[in-house]
Amino acid sequence: MSDSFGQSLPSDQYDIEFQVPQTHRLRFTQDCFGDDFTVLRELFEPSADAARVQVWVDQGLVAWDATLCERINRRFDSAVELELVGRTQTLPGGETIKNDPALIDRLLASFNSHDLDRRSYVVVIGGGAVLDAVGYAAAIAHRGIRLVRIPTTTLAQADSGVGVKNAVNWFGKKNWKGTFATPWAVVNDERLLQGLSDRDYRCGFSEAVKVALLKDADFFHFLADNASAIAQRQQPYCRRAIRESVLLHLWHITRGGDPFELQQARPLDFGHWSAHKLESVTNYSVRHGEAVGIGVAVDVAYSHLKLGLPLQITEQTLGALQQLGLPTWHAALDEDVIFDGLEEFRQHLGGELTITLIEDVGRPVDVHSIDRAVMREAMDLVAQHGNSYSHIADVPNTSRQSAL
Ligand SMILES: NC(=O)c1ccc[n+]([C@@H]2O[C@H](COP(=O)([O-])OP(=O)(O)OC[C@H]3O[C@@H](n4cnc5c(N)ncnc54)[C@H](O)[C@@H]3O)[C@@H](O)[C@H]2O)c1
Ligand SMILES: [Zn+2]
Repeated sequence: MSDSFGQSLPSDQYDIEFQVPQTHRLRFTQDCFGDDFTVLRELFEPSADAARVQVWVDQGLVAWDATLCERINRRFDSAVELELVGRTQTLPGGETIKNDPALIDRLLASFNSHDLDRRSYVVVIGGGAVLDAVGYAAAIAHRGIRLVRIPTTTLAQADSGVGVKNAVNWFGKKNWKGTFATPWAVVNDERLLQGLSDRDYRCGFSEAVKVALLKDADFFHFLADNASAIAQRQQPYCRRAIRESVLLHLWHITRGGDPFELQQARPLDFGHWSAHKLESVTNYSVRHGEAVGIGVAVDVAYSHLKLGLPLQITEQTLGALQQLGLPTWHAALDEDVIFDGLEEFRQHLGGELTITLIEDVGRPVDVHSIDRAVMREAMDLVAQHGNSYSHIADVPNTSRQSAL
């Protein structure tokens, strides 16, 4: 092709690969609004003018510690290089926030009225749902305000807090609206977990079992050997389990080559295809972490029968999940539900069905079809040996700690 002066022009087509440098910052603290506030404070980039910071807190935390917002306000007021705008505000926790567009509007209106810009910070403290909703609002405001996540459930600390996704529910569909956006920083604080009920506390460890099975035999054996201690909230064991789990997730995101899930396979979704279905058929009465425990049990049993995963690992996995106080079976999981879940999973991702299973600990394989007869056998195996959900959900809480 040539231009009007007869000069030849290069091609009309340009396919240029490029990379965008990103930094993922993760910190571990004991009490980030107490003695460890410096760790949080040092995450904000030094600038000539005080950086504008807005803080949002999950109301579930405030119900546990009524003084939390005031402590946060005092801490930020003491940091002269930061300007806390709008004081610390609270939001309803759990799925409520992801289902209510008015709450997203409230967040955006507050960012706007306090003149937050792309060098300002939104700090969000809460469970995965609040992190998702505030993260979504921060990601679309000015095409991205810096987000500091402080996850307060074991599930969010062990897994989703370091994720690069956010979402709200739209058209009555889960996570329909959302973006990929790397948080400015993530702070995993131990004290903030104390307000969780035993049931919620245990939920995060199914994700630890999941990622250990995918990536790390030593970690898997640590979890299997110490599952009861973790269920009893013995700190050294819980600390190590959360730390290793989140680091494996972080390495996967930053080193795994597909942070924004452009490829077909999503290994971190091991155990999740049936889990998502179970959550929706039970109208979310089964927590995500509980559903993942059941989904991992099903996928491990199928991996044993179809891919030769050693029986010993299969038994250890079921045993570990049960000792963690997690259910490994739910009566709502019949064959139709399972196979509907498989099809919904395929549709959500688009393209060919791709499910990650395991041949052994640390040896994931992608499969593109599920053998119906073998799956039926796997479900029987788990149903016979599983801790049923109804039994688990009835267990009373024993060790929720008071804020005082
Ligand atoms: N973005 C991602 O990559 C990703 C990944 C997995 C899950 N998620 C989302 O995360 C959500 C589930 O998050 P979750 O399991 O962390 O629970 P959650 O956010 O639903 O919180 C559960 C309950 O615990 C309360 N709470 C939170 N922290 C507390 C604390 N320390 N003390 C007392 N109460 C507390 C909340 O108010 C809520 O009522 C779902 O919406 C799911 O879709 C997102
Ligand atoms: Zn999950």
